[in-house]
Amino acid sequence: MREKIKAAIVFGTRPEAIKMAPVVLEFKKRKEFETVVIVTAQHRQMLDGVLSLFNIKPDYDLNLMKENQNLWNLTSDILLSTKKVFEEIKPDVVLVHGDTTTAFGASLSAFYAKIPVAHVEAGLRTFDKNYPFPEEINRVLADSVSDFHFAPTKGSVQNLINSGIKTKNTIYETGNTVIDALFYTLKNFKSKDDFGLDPNLRTILLTSHRRENFGEPLENICKSVIELVKRNKDIQFIYPVHPNPNVKNTVEKYLKGIDRVKLIEPLEYAPFCSLMKKAEIILTDSGGVQEEAPSLGVPVLVLRDETERPEAVHSGGVKLVGANPDKIIKTVETLLCDKVEYQKMAQAINPYGDGNAAKRIADILIEKCK
Ligand code: UD1
Ligand code: UDP
Repeated sequence: MREKIKAAIVFGTRPEAIKMAPVVLEFKKRKEFETVVIVTAQHRQMLDGVLSLFNIKPDYDLNLMKENQNLWNLTSDILLSTKKVFEEIKPDVVLVHGDTTTAFGASLSAFYAKIPVAHVEAGLRTFDKNYPFPEEINRVLADSVSDFHFAPTKGSVQNLINSGIKTKNTIYETGNTVIDALFYTLKNFKSKDDFGLDPNLRTILLTSHRRENFGEPLENICKSVIELVKRNKDIQFIYPVHPNPNVKNTVEKYLKGIDRVKLIEPLEYAPFCSLMKKAEIILTDSGGVQEEAPSLGVPVLVLRDETERPEAVHSGGVKLVGANPDKIIKTVETLLCDKVEYQKMAQAINPYGDGNAAKRIADILIEKCK
């Protein structure tokens, strides 16, 4: 019997930080764990905002982000720098999250060091290696080297079984920790920010940052926004622009200075939750936003042709519109005009969890690692 389970929790980007924060807070409450937080800082500013919101002080900050970084350098930096930390602290288990380069690099690094790996948000799939790129392969590889698969939904459990994860007893359905983070934030932080929006206009929130949308698709998304504000005088867009230069440069080129289109810096998580609640419609290619918005009763139009999160499409809160201007404009205008269609989407249930995913993950690891 171990005295304490030394759990190294590794993350690096904004969405991983949001979704791993409930796990860190839960593990720190449990006497069975010695918790070591390692951040790669694949993201810098966007990560720091989340760390301070949840009051998490990393034990190791690898500070890896470089301006306009590439996948090769980032992956090798993560492998080499986590190797050093793992050798120093010798964890009993390494927890990684989702499908980022951090998740892939840190899980491979732990596997090389023969440390058991626990993958939170395991089993999401499109079954197309290029969509999303490189995330589909990152999560397949993280799942392949993992000893514990914490799958958010029944669908993700089934994906793991179908992808040949041989021993079913490594797979656990836990719900998604994003719902834990969302509920915690809505309960503990109230934002009075009006974001400089005109209260007499109807608000559409937009976010887009995926690599598959770089170039022409993102240009088409911007053109759709321009057309929508031209045709509908009662709407305004607000877009917290991701700092990736591939996003920022295109968005500023097309949308800067357009009337009723407000470009802002990325928001801290608490005000962003409040902005999601204020919005009448959300247009996004974000994974996390697709999972959160159905809990807030806001219809989401996904700017992608496929999603690894089909549950909310099936329950009705989310529709795929791709980066096709005709489809985007038609679907937004239907929601603006047709109250019945709108209510159908707004009232759909949230299929991603009950806010207790981190507790389940802690219980399982205590039972299995002790
Ligand atoms: C990464 C993830 C993606 C996730 C997204 C969430 C990979 C391959 N991609 O994509 O899965 O959906 O994060 O946002 O892991 N930058 C800053 N400050 C920040 C963050 C980013 O300036 O706080 C800029 C930097 O120039 C950085 C660039 O954005 O080099 C790209 O960051 P990177 O993490 O490589 O890619 P993302 O597109 O953010
Ligand atoms: N988010 C945020 N501020 C913003 C935009 C998004 O805090 O300005 C949050 C959002 O609520 C969600 C997460 O960031 O929890 C999603 O991150 P992102 O879209 O960058 O990545 P993805 O989920 O697509 O991997």
